[in-house]
Parts: sequence; structure tokens; C-alpha cells
Amino acid sequence: MKVDVLLGLQWGDEGKGKVVDVLTPNYDVVARFQGGPNAGHTLEFEGQKYVLRSIPSGIFQGDKVNIIGNGVVLDPALFKGEAEALEASGHPLKERLHISKKAHLILPTHRVLDAAYEAAKGDAKVGTTGKGIGPTYTDKISRTGVRVGDILSPNFAEIYGKAKARHEAILKSLNYTYDITEMEEAFLAGVAYLREFHLVDSEHEINNLLKEGKSVLCEGAQGTLLDVDFGSYPFVTSSNTICAGACTGLGIGPNKIGNVFGIMKAYCTRVGSGPFPTELFDETGKTIRDLGHEYGAVTGRERRCGWIDLVALKYAIMVNGVTQLIMMKSDVLDQFETIKACVAYKVNGEEIDYFPYDITEGVEPIYVELPGWKTDMTRMTDEAEFPEEFNAYVSFLEEELETPIKIISIGPDRAQTIVRYTEE
Ligand code: GDP
Ligand code: IMO
Ligand code: MG
Repeated sequence: MKVDVLLGLQWGDEGKGKVVDVLTPNYDVVARFQGGPNAGHTLEFEGQKYVLRSIPSGIFQGDKVNIIGNGVVLDPALFKGEAEALEASGHPLKERLHISKKAHLILPTHRVLDAAYEAAKGDAKVGTTGKGIGPTYTDKISRTGVRVGDILSPNFAEIYGKAKARHEAILKSLNYTYDITEMEEAFLAGVAYLREFHLVDSEHEINNLLKEGKSVLCEGAQGTLLDVDFGSYPFVTSSNTICAGACTGLGIGPNKIGNVFGIMKAYCTRVGSGPFPTELFDETGKTIRDLGHEYGAVTGRERRCGWIDLVALKYAIMVNGVTQLIMMKSDVLDQFETIKACVAYKVNGEEIDYFPYDITEGVEPIYVELPGWKTDMTRMTDEAEFPEEFNAYVSFLEEELETPIKIISIGPDRAQTIVRYTEE
């Protein structure tokens, strides 16, 4: 019996989808525990590329059980599109995918509210993905949400109508004009489609599987710096992206959690608004964006790029209890002369090495510089081939972060993944 958790340590898009897919053969179950279609998890193998939003990234590795947990918010229309595309590409999922009845539904009016709230914020907008995430979680916490289990009720039309009417009243008070005719049609078709799936009490299912000795990999969405409690609030998402979210988002006791895999890029990116101390506005930032193809998987927006931030990573490792690190996209830095890593911040003239309450303004990163390895690593298959300067970079990170780097990703393909010899 074991439950491991894999989650992002930065502002999302670290490469969670790729690594979940790579690790899935070691597990019986893969489960998403929070977030919704704001996520875009990219997987590449056999010359094909897939982007998953709500469906766990374990779906391509044979007969594993994949669970969408209660902590997730699900948009039936987007889910239908995603699921049908997968089925059409020869990846059946009706038997493999189980969906918690306690997951909350994203309604068309949640998406409109997301847009309306963003518009009302003006310059202070969060830069959300526009998928209705915030308003859906707001309704969940306000105890006015609509859950997946509600679609099985003979009164579903009434339940939906009530929620919609409440949202319409808010939108009216905001003087926000909109037309949900098409969205509503797609939503209702999505709801009908959803009824064809296994809608389950996933907390029972998962705990029963654990009792039988099965192993579970929990897949996080977004990243720690977008966590609603510990991220760069208010420029965050609306769920707990940290490890504790796996407990509340799946109904797993904390004592069941074994390894916590924390994923980071060899540098750092952010999409949407909000502070980013190591952001680069120069040619280097542009080069990272070009080489790393740093454009959002969901919205196509340019990702902001910068150097790795060890102050923020130490914080992320702390709040998650990370046991092993996974470093992604090191190939993007393959040709750099020197590489910088932020080891402290200067705030109001004072040097600090901890992540402060507020990083909005006046945070100046303090860097150390390391020599680049200037070697194409993308075809390497074993860590014995790693250049000396790369090993030095990895050792430096491990020492600073006091956590071993277990896996190194050297390209987007499933095969471009090196598991290191480090002991457990
Ligand atoms: P996720 O949201 O954490 O699953 O990450 P995304 O899929 O949004 O973004 C990661 C992007 O980097 C995707 O386009 C991946 O195909 C790509 N990727 C993953 N690992 C690597 C890597 O090691 N090198 C390169 N160059 N690309 C990678
Ligand atoms: P994955 O799982 C990167 C960002 C948005 C915005 C903020 C709030 O692919 O790593 P929301 O729509 O959640 O209310 O937006 O969070 N954001 C992400 N950034 N990767 C993601 O997911 C994200 N999901 C949300 O850009 O700044
Ligand atoms: Mg992503």
C-alpha cells in the first residue's frame, strides 16, 4: 500500500503530465486531486502529443484506474471534448476513468462570472484561464455548488436552474452582458455524456484499493506558488495545490502519503499576472521562451520566463514535505554560457533567504552564477553521459535545496527522461 504525490513547485507548467505518464507503470491508480481545466498537462510519445486538462495523465499506460477526485472542478462540456478526442485517437477511457460524485461542476455561468470578475478588477486582474475555476470553488466553499452526483438526481434541472438564477442575479448587479446559449447547449450535452461514466464515491474506492495493497500516484495541477493559501496571493488559483490538497481532494489520510515528488524546471516560468522576482525582461528571457516553447497549453499565452528561484523552491519544498525532486527542461539551458540561480532576496536593503509574506514589490533577486555545460543532452540515455558542468549544477541545487534530484528530463518525449541512481 502506498500513496505518492507528484506536484508542481513553481507557478505551474513544470512538466507534471510528462512525468506522471512516465511514473504510471509503477502504480495501479493515478488520481487528480484539485484544479480543473485550467490545467494543461502535455504528454509526448511515439511522435504524438496530447494535452490533458481534467483527465489524469495515467490514462495512456494500459489498464490503470484513473480517478478524478472530489477536489477537482469539472466542466462537462470541456470534459466531453477532451474525452471524445482521446477515444477517437484509440485510447478508450470509459472503463478506466472513475469520477468522484463529490467533484464540483463548472457551470456556464461560472465561466461568465470568471470573465466578469476579471473585467471588474481592471489592472489588478489575476489573468485567470477564464475557465470558471474561481467562481466554482467559491460556490463550493459557500455551500451553493452543484456536484457531479447531482446529475444523477431526477431534480437536476431544478438544481442547475437555481444555481444559474443566482449567478444571473450577480451578473445583473455587475451590469455584465453575456449570452450563454451555446455554452449551455454544450454543458447539457456534456452532462448527458458524463452520465455514461463510472461516477463513484472515490474516497471509498481509493481506500479500498489501498487496503488491497494497491498503489496510488496523485497528480497535482498548477503549482505551489499558485496555491490559494501559500502562493503569491491574490495572484493564485482557487485550490490547494500543495500536498495536503491530495488528502482533502481524494479522502486519503496524511499517514498514507509516502513520497512527495516535487517538480521544477531548470529555470522558472509564470503565466498570468502577479509577482515573479526572477523574471527576465531581456534577451535571455526571450531565448528561454523560444527554446522552451514557453506558451500556455490552455490559453496559448506567452509564459513569462526567468532564472530558477531557490528561495521560492525551498519554501515550496517545506510546505509540501517534498522527499524527491524532479528537474525538467534542462535541455533548454544546454547552450547557455552561464546559468544563474537566485539564492536570496534583497528586500528593503536587507538580504533574506526565506520566502517573505509579500513578494509584490521591491524584491531583488541575489544570484550565483554557474558555468553552462554547452552540450546537447537531448539524446543521452544515462546519467553517466552527463557533462561535468551539468553535474555540478545538479549537485549545487541538491545542496541548496537539501533534497535529492531523482529524475532529470532532457526533452519533451517520454523517452527523454533519466532516472538517477540516487538511493531512496
Ligand atoms: P504541466 O502543466 O506541468 O503538465 O506542464 P505543461 O505540459 O503545461 O508544460 C510543459 C511543457 O514542456 C510541455 O510542452 C511539455 O511537452 C514540455 N516538456 C516537458 N518536459 C520537457 C523537457 O525536459 N524538455 C523540453 N524541452 N520540454 C519539455
Ligand atoms: P498546470 O496544471 C500555469 C494560473 C493562471 C492565473 C492563475 C489563476 O497546467 O500547471 P485560474 O484560471 O486558475 O483561476 O487562474 O493561475 N494558472 C496556471 N498557470 N499552469 C496551470 O496549470 C495553471 N492553472 C492556472 O494563469 O495566473
Ligand atoms: Mg500546464
